[in-house]
Amino acid sequence: MSFYEQHILPHVIDFACGDKVIMEQRQHVLAAAEGRVLEVGMGSGLNLRYYNPDKVDFVWGLEPSDGMRKKAQKNLQQSPVQVEWLGLPGEEVPLDSHSADTVVLTFTLCTIPDWETALKQMKRVLKPGGKLLFCEHGAAPDETVARWQNRVNPLWKKIAGGCHLNRNIPELISQAGFSIRELEADYLPKTPRIAGFRYRGFAQ
Ligand SMILES: C[S@@+](CC[C@H](N)C(=O)[O-])C[C@H]1O[C@@H](n2cnc3c(N)ncnc32)[C@H](O)[C@@H]1O
Repeated sequence: MSFYEQHILPHVIDFACGDKVIMEQRQHVLAAAEGRVLEVGMGSGLNLRYYNPDKVDFVWGLEPSDGMRKKAQKNLQQSPVQVEWLGLPGEEVPLDSHSADTVVLTFTLCTIPDWETALKQMKRVLKPGGKLLFCEHGAAPDETVARWQNRVNPLWKKIAGGCHLNRNIPELISQAGFSIRELEADYLPKTPRIAGFRYRGFAQ
Protein backbone atom coordinates (compact mmCIF):
# COMPACT_ATOMS: atom_id res chain seq x y z
CA MET A 1 0.00 0.00 0.00
CA SER A 2 1.41 3.42 -0.97
CA PHE A 3 2.06 6.32 1.42
CA TYR A 4 -0.86 8.17 -0.18
CA GLU A 5 -3.28 5.26 0.38
CA GLN A 6 -2.11 4.62 3.92
CA HIS A 7 -1.81 8.15 5.31
CA ILE A 8 -3.63 10.65 3.10
CA LEU A 9 -6.53 8.85 1.45
CA PRO A 10 -8.29 7.92 4.74
CA HIS A 11 -8.58 11.65 5.58
CA VAL A 12 -9.76 12.51 2.06
CA ILE A 13 -12.42 9.75 2.17
CA ASP A 14 -13.55 10.67 5.67
CA PHE A 15 -13.93 14.30 4.65
CA ALA A 16 -15.73 13.63 1.35
CA CYS A 17 -17.97 10.88 2.74
CA GLY A 18 -18.82 13.01 5.78
CA ASP A 19 -20.57 15.62 3.64
CA LYS A 20 -24.01 16.62 4.96
CA VAL A 21 -25.84 15.35 1.88
CA ILE A 22 -24.19 11.94 2.22
CA MET A 23 -24.76 11.76 5.96
CA GLU A 24 -28.50 12.22 5.32
CA GLN A 25 -28.37 9.24 2.95
CA ARG A 26 -26.71 7.13 5.63
CA GLN A 27 -29.32 7.99 8.22
CA HIS A 28 -32.07 6.98 5.84
CA VAL A 29 -30.60 3.65 4.81
CA LEU A 30 -29.42 2.57 8.26
CA ALA A 31 -32.84 3.00 9.83
CA ALA A 32 -33.68 -0.45 8.39
CA ALA A 33 -30.65 -2.24 9.89
CA GLU A 34 -31.47 -4.90 12.47
CA GLY A 35 -30.07 -7.89 14.30
CA ARG A 36 -26.54 -8.99 13.51
CA VAL A 37 -25.13 -6.64 10.91
CA LEU A 38 -22.20 -7.05 8.54
CA GLU A 39 -20.97 -3.72 7.19
CA VAL A 40 -18.68 -4.20 4.19
CA GLY A 41 -15.99 -1.55 3.71
CA MET A 42 -16.70 0.22 6.98
CA GLY A 43 -14.21 2.97 6.18
CA SER A 44 -13.90 5.57 8.94
CA GLY A 45 -17.07 4.37 10.67
CA LEU A 46 -19.30 7.24 9.54
CA ASN A 47 -22.38 4.99 9.64
CA LEU A 48 -21.97 3.89 13.23
CA ARG A 49 -23.85 6.79 14.82
CA TYR A 50 -26.98 5.83 12.86
CA TYR A 51 -27.35 2.26 14.11
CA ASN A 52 -30.28 1.96 16.48
CA PRO A 53 -29.12 -0.04 19.54
CA ASP A 54 -32.73 -1.12 20.20
CA LYS A 55 -32.77 -2.94 16.85
CA VAL A 56 -29.14 -3.82 16.15
CA ASP A 57 -27.38 -6.49 18.25
CA PHE A 58 -23.90 -5.76 16.97
CA VAL A 59 -21.92 -4.92 13.86
CA TRP A 60 -19.09 -6.74 12.13
CA GLY A 61 -17.10 -3.97 10.47
CA LEU A 62 -15.21 -5.44 7.54
CA GLU A 63 -12.49 -3.10 6.25
CA PRO A 64 -9.18 -4.11 4.67
CA SER A 65 -7.35 -0.80 5.08
CA ASP A 66 -5.33 -0.19 8.26
CA GLY A 67 -5.31 3.53 7.45
CA MET A 68 -9.13 3.61 7.43
CA ARG A 69 -9.20 1.63 10.64
CA LYS A 70 -6.98 4.21 12.35
CA LYS A 71 -9.19 6.99 11.05
CA ALA A 72 -12.26 5.16 12.43
CA GLN A 73 -11.06 5.11 16.05
CA LYS A 74 -13.11 8.11 17.20
CA ASN A 75 -16.33 6.84 15.60
CA LEU A 76 -15.68 3.36 17.00
CA GLN A 77 -15.28 4.74 20.53
CA GLN A 78 -18.53 6.68 20.24
CA SER A 79 -20.49 3.89 18.57
CA PRO A 80 -23.93 3.20 20.08
CA VAL A 81 -23.53 -0.47 19.13
CA GLN A 82 -20.76 -2.99 19.70
CA VAL A 83 -18.44 -3.38 16.72
CA GLU A 84 -16.11 -6.23 15.86
CA TRP A 85 -13.54 -5.13 13.31
CA LEU A 86 -12.62 -7.62 10.57
CA GLY A 87 -9.46 -6.58 8.74
CA LEU A 88 -10.24 -8.31 5.45
CA PRO A 89 -11.65 -7.44 2.04
CA GLY A 90 -15.23 -8.11 0.96
CA GLU A 91 -14.02 -10.94 -1.24
CA GLU A 92 -13.02 -12.86 1.93
CA VAL A 93 -15.80 -12.56 4.49
CA PRO A 94 -14.70 -14.77 7.41
CA LEU A 95 -18.20 -15.44 8.77
CA ASP A 96 -20.41 -18.53 8.79
CA SER A 97 -23.10 -18.85 6.18
CA HIS A 98 -26.46 -17.36 7.21
CA SER A 99 -24.95 -15.52 10.17
CA ALA A 100 -26.09 -11.95 9.41
CA ASP A 101 -29.59 -10.45 9.47
CA THR A 102 -28.46 -7.35 7.59
CA VAL A 103 -25.59 -6.54 5.26
CA VAL A 104 -24.77 -2.85 4.80
CA LEU A 105 -23.02 -1.44 1.74
CA THR A 106 -22.54 2.31 1.58
CA PHE A 107 -20.28 3.88 -1.05
CA THR A 108 -18.15 0.73 -1.19
CA LEU A 109 -19.26 -1.38 -4.14
CA CYS A 110 -17.70 1.26 -6.37
CA THR A 111 -14.30 0.33 -4.93
CA ILE A 112 -14.26 -3.45 -4.39
CA PRO A 113 -12.03 -4.93 -7.13
CA ASP A 114 -13.77 -8.32 -7.44
CA TRP A 115 -17.32 -7.09 -6.83
CA GLU A 116 -18.86 -10.37 -7.95
CA THR A 117 -17.02 -12.53 -5.42
CA ALA A 118 -17.70 -9.97 -2.69
CA LEU A 119 -21.44 -9.86 -3.42
CA LYS A 120 -21.55 -13.66 -3.45
CA GLN A 121 -19.90 -13.64 -0.02
CA MET A 122 -22.55 -11.21 1.22
CA LYS A 123 -25.26 -13.46 -0.18
CA ARG A 124 -23.70 -16.45 1.56
CA VAL A 125 -23.57 -14.85 5.01
CA LEU A 126 -27.02 -13.28 4.81
CA LYS A 127 -29.80 -15.27 6.49
CA PRO A 128 -32.75 -16.24 4.29
CA GLY A 129 -35.09 -13.25 4.48
CA GLY A 130 -32.24 -10.96 5.55
CA LYS A 131 -31.64 -7.64 3.81
CA LEU A 132 -28.78 -6.16 1.86
CA LEU A 133 -29.13 -2.40 2.45
CA PHE A 134 -27.27 -0.30 -0.07
CA CYS A 135 -26.54 3.31 -0.87
CA GLU A 136 -23.97 3.71 -3.63
CA HIS A 137 -23.00 6.14 -6.35
CA GLY A 138 -22.62 4.84 -9.87
CA ALA A 139 -23.39 4.97 -13.57
CA ALA A 140 -25.64 7.87 -14.53
CA PRO A 141 -28.46 7.36 -17.04
CA ASP A 142 -27.75 10.54 -19.02
CA GLU A 143 -25.49 9.99 -21.99
CA THR A 144 -23.39 13.10 -21.46
CA VAL A 145 -22.78 12.42 -17.78
CA ALA A 146 -22.07 8.75 -18.50
CA ARG A 147 -19.56 9.70 -21.18
CA TRP A 148 -17.73 11.94 -18.71
CA GLN A 149 -17.82 9.21 -16.08
CA ASN A 150 -16.10 6.85 -18.52
CA ARG A 151 -13.54 9.47 -19.51
CA VAL A 152 -12.60 10.51 -15.98
CA ASN A 153 -12.76 7.01 -14.49
CA PRO A 154 -9.10 5.94 -15.06
CA LEU A 155 -7.74 9.04 -13.30
CA TRP A 156 -10.46 8.98 -10.62
CA LYS A 157 -9.59 5.39 -9.70
CA LYS A 158 -6.00 6.45 -9.04
CA ILE A 159 -6.82 9.33 -6.74
CA ALA A 160 -9.88 7.82 -5.05
CA GLY A 161 -8.47 4.48 -3.89
CA GLY A 162 -9.83 2.34 -6.73
CA CYS A 163 -13.32 3.88 -6.79
CA HIS A 164 -15.16 3.50 -10.13
CA LEU A 165 -17.53 6.24 -11.23
CA ASN A 166 -19.38 4.13 -13.75
CA ARG A 167 -20.54 0.92 -12.13
CA ASN A 168 -24.17 0.04 -12.65
CA ILE A 169 -24.92 -0.85 -9.05
CA PRO A 170 -28.39 -2.48 -9.40
CA GLU A 171 -27.10 -4.57 -12.30
CA LEU A 172 -24.15 -5.85 -10.27
CA ILE A 173 -26.34 -6.66 -7.26
CA SER A 174 -28.82 -8.54 -9.46
CA GLN A 175 -26.08 -10.39 -11.33
CA ALA A 176 -24.81 -11.75 -8.01
CA GLY A 177 -28.17 -13.42 -7.39
CA PHE A 178 -30.00 -10.87 -5.23
CA SER A 179 -33.52 -9.63 -5.91
CA ILE A 180 -33.81 -5.88 -5.57
CA ARG A 181 -36.96 -5.09 -3.56
CA GLU A 182 -36.68 -1.34 -3.35
CA LEU A 183 -34.66 1.10 -5.42
CA GLU A 184 -34.38 4.87 -5.62
CA ALA A 185 -32.05 6.26 -8.24
CA ASP A 186 -31.41 9.96 -8.76
CA TYR A 187 -28.81 12.70 -8.54
CA LEU A 188 -27.78 13.87 -5.10
CA PRO A 189 -28.24 17.59 -4.55
CA LYS A 190 -25.15 19.83 -4.39
CA THR A 191 -22.91 17.04 -5.70
CA PRO A 192 -20.96 16.96 -8.99
CA ARG A 193 -23.02 14.83 -11.39
CA ILE A 194 -20.22 12.47 -12.36
CA ALA A 195 -19.98 11.27 -8.74
CA GLY A 196 -23.50 12.09 -7.65
CA PHE A 197 -25.86 9.58 -9.23
CA ARG A 198 -27.03 7.62 -6.22
CA TYR A 199 -28.69 4.22 -5.96
CA ARG A 200 -30.37 3.51 -2.64
CA GLY A 201 -32.54 0.59 -1.61
CA PHE A 202 -32.49 -2.97 -0.40
CA ALA A 203 -32.16 -6.43 -1.88
CA GLN A 204 -32.79 -9.96 -0.61
C1 LIG B 1 -15.40 5.47 -0.36
S1 LIG B 1 -14.95 4.48 0.98
C2 LIG B 1 -16.51 4.28 1.84
C3 LIG B 1 -16.35 3.88 3.26
C4 LIG B 1 -17.65 3.62 4.01
N1 LIG B 1 -18.38 2.50 3.47
C5 LIG B 1 -18.54 4.84 4.06
O1 LIG B 1 -19.73 4.74 3.69
O2 LIG B 1 -18.07 5.90 4.50
C6 LIG B 1 -14.67 2.88 0.27
C7 LIG B 1 -14.15 1.87 1.29
O3 LIG B 1 -14.02 0.59 0.68
C8 LIG B 1 -12.88 -0.02 1.24
N2 LIG B 1 -12.44 -1.12 0.39
C9 LIG B 1 -11.48 -1.12 -0.57
N3 LIG B 1 -11.35 -2.34 -1.10
C10 LIG B 1 -12.24 -3.14 -0.47
C11 LIG B 1 -12.57 -4.51 -0.57
N4 LIG B 1 -11.95 -5.31 -1.43
N5 LIG B 1 -13.51 -4.99 0.26
C12 LIG B 1 -14.16 -4.17 1.14
N6 LIG B 1 -13.88 -2.86 1.26
C13 LIG B 1 -12.95 -2.36 0.48
C14 LIG B 1 -11.89 1.11 1.34
O4 LIG B 1 -10.81 0.81 2.18
C15 LIG B 1 -12.78 2.24 1.84
O5 LIG B 1 -12.84 2.24 3.25
